Amino acid sequence: MSEQIAPHGGKLINRVAEGKDKEILLEKVPTLHKVKINAREISDLDMIASGALSPLEGFMGLKDYENVVDNMRLANGTPWSLPITLAVTDEEADPLKIGEDVALTDESGQTLAILHLEEKYLFDKRKEALHVYKTEDAEHPGVAYTLALGNVLLGGKVTVLERVKHNKFNDYRLDPAQTRELFEQKGWKTIVGFQTRNPVHRAHEYLHKCAMETVDGLFLNPLVGETKSDDISADIRMKCYEVILENYYPADRVALGVFPAAMRYAGPREAIFHAIVRKNYGCTHFIVGRDHAGVGKYYGTYDAQLLFDEFTAEEMGIIPMKFEHSFFCKVCDSMVSSRTCPHDKENYIFLSGTKVRDMLRAGEIPPKEFSRPEVAKVLIEAMKEQPANA
Ligand code: ADX
Repeated sequence: MSEQIAPHGGKLINRVAEGKDKEILLEKVPTLHKVKINAREISDLDMIASGALSPLEGFMGLKDYENVVDNMRLANGTPWSLPITLAVTDEEADPLKIGEDVALTDESGQTLAILHLEEKYLFDKRKEALHVYKTEDAEHPGVAYTLALGNVLLGGKVTVLERVKHNKFNDYRLDPAQTRELFEQKGWKTIVGFQTRNPVHRAHEYLHKCAMETVDGLFLNPLVGETKSDDISADIRMKCYEVILENYYPADRVALGVFPAAMRYAGPREAIFHAIVRKNYGCTHFIVGRDHAGVGKYYGTYDAQLLFDEFTAEEMGIIPMKFEHSFFCKVCDSMVSSRTCPHDKENYIFLSGTKVRDMLRAGEIPPKEFSRPEVAKVLIEAMKEQPANA
């Protein structure tokens, strides 16, 4: 294990209660105030528990929160680009006393964890939006989420009593300790992580395979937490991955595991977050292509890549593998980018997301230069099942 990349902050956090500690906490639960947390907070909680968000041990207190929003660092200077917070309304916050244990529950009222309440504080939503999302526009899904939150943030360490139970992708749910073990077993010393929230296409495949030429293994880590309603569902995306892996990738050089986080659409700041978390999973490298984690036209094509320059290689630990916008060129007869191809635009196969959707909905297979036919078939079948707004 010693040769593996160190987790962010040096140590893999584990906030899951076990044995006697768990029994004691469980006994206390009926006497505690309860706070219901939402889907994003539940996925953050689960990632704190597993160490995916190391060095975080809970939801951020004011000092960490402010430093993250202002400087992209925790209070102790460690790079961290997104707030990991727990918001409640004034009414929910009122009865809670600093120093008490609070039961965090899911929608059904089931207690998932104990929050050891250290701080309650107000926060400036518009400032957070401007710093984190670079816009106050409520059309931005991340901004809309932030503006709709309660006014008070609760900070403190958490102790998880019950890991969230899922009825999907259980074979692909690997904690950082498990991926690290898997990479060790495979004998991989260099591993490139890949974040994605879209169905796999040829440009993705090109990035994967270029990266695979120089590292030992590829860790495909599609995000399966909350996404905006018009993104293709994780079920369908995972099926696409299964067929493409079966047909086009060497099994011994690829691992597939789901990333439980919710999508923020924070572009550059989310790229930094995505990289740091993949380091915790044991990746040494991380793919950052065009408009990583972007939405609409809020971010420049390569802003996410540029943001990595604000941190030293030592403090990041994980190495960003930056890729230019890639596409198929008919003259080159291969995937290319402006770095590798001298030909004019008219030779390129560019398809907008909307165009591809229209084709798929009409049962048409997009060109093989855009999508592998096996993947297109999965998407066409899925569109038939949910024709309205899939
Ligand atoms: S993301 O929101 O998770 O970034 P997506 O699944 O589309 O969305 O992208 C996954 C990764 O592939 C990101 O690093 C993104 O920048 C990169 N990427 C997607 N399409 C291209 C492309 N045509 N050329 C270069 N990079 C791309």
